Amino acid sequence: MKSFVSVDSVENINALVDDALEIKKNPHVHSCLGKQKSLCLIFLNPSLRTRLSSQKAAFNLGLDAAVLDVGSQGWQLEFTDGVVMDGDKAEHIKEAAAVIGSYFDVVAIRAFAKLEDRDQDYSEQILTAFQKYCPVPVVNMESSTAHPLQALADVITIEEHKKKAKPKVVLSWAPHPKALPQAVANSFSRWMQVVDYDLTITHPEGYELAEGVVGQAQVEYDQQKAFEGADFIYAKNWSSYADYGKVLSRDLNWMITADKMKLTNQAKFMHCLPVRRNVVVEGRVLDSDSSLIIPEAANRVTSMQAVLKNILEGLN
Ligand code: CP
Repeated sequence: MKSFVSVDSVENINALVDDALEIKKNPHVHSCLGKQKSLCLIFLNPSLRTRLSSQKAAFNLGLDAAVLDVGSQGWQLEFTDGVVMDGDKAEHIKEAAAVIGSYFDVVAIRAFAKLEDRDQDYSEQILTAFQKYCPVPVVNMESSTAHPLQALADVITIEEHKKKAKPKVVLSWAPHPKALPQAVANSFSRWMQVVDYDLTITHPEGYELAEGVVGQAQVEYDQQKAFEGADFIYAKNWSSYADYGKVLSRDLNWMITADKMKLTNQAKFMHCLPVRRNVVVEGRVLDSDSSLIIPEAANRVTSMQAVLKNILEGLN
């Protein structure tokens, strides 16, 4: 793997997941692979899990990691070609990405959707610019439209807890006070289908994901019907794709509750975190034995480590 920007970067997902499960058994077995190599973690947006799990994964591989918070530490970056830079942006991505690539062996970047212009977000302007101007492998730590490290951690978690080869997995929209990107839902849907789980997506009308993202998944507008027979419930809020970036509903009837979990096949509950208790999901679901949120977050170390190992093996 040269770079890891989406599910399409991975030639064999089953092999990557198997490798991740092996890494988890002995996380320090490859501690020399990253020796004398370095990783730059670039954040244009906040993070708890991605930042710390990436540092931990690098540590486990013997890789030095540096963190750049662009908002508070770096110059504000310009991404548009041919622009007259007489505003507040002090540095163009052309120079910044090339310079960072001259210091580090691998670069990872987080750059959320702005939710103002769908075409611009879905063109992945920032991630694409890094891939274009940075001469080293690039890892996507959540871009405008995708969060593949989270989706890989989700697959690892389901593999560890599934009781049948092809579990029924339900991606459920849930309410949230703010407009959130579609990145997590997009990646979850695509990865679930590539590993061939039985995926149902449920959401209120108006929250349809992009056609290429939905693929062959079942779409069920009745949340309670979708939950019937489910082995995993994955809750996530996203803003509208059609009416781009808009919050069309804050209907708390879509919150995941303990009563709704009773409709399932004793399903495990998942969420990528951070999560708003008693808005997205009842606290008693998060605190129940069915909740996988902490092991799922712990698997973010394993997913990043599997990706970095694969990239480093290509460099050595
Ligand atoms: N799930 C996830 O990416 O968490 P952070 O935003 O805290 O990194």
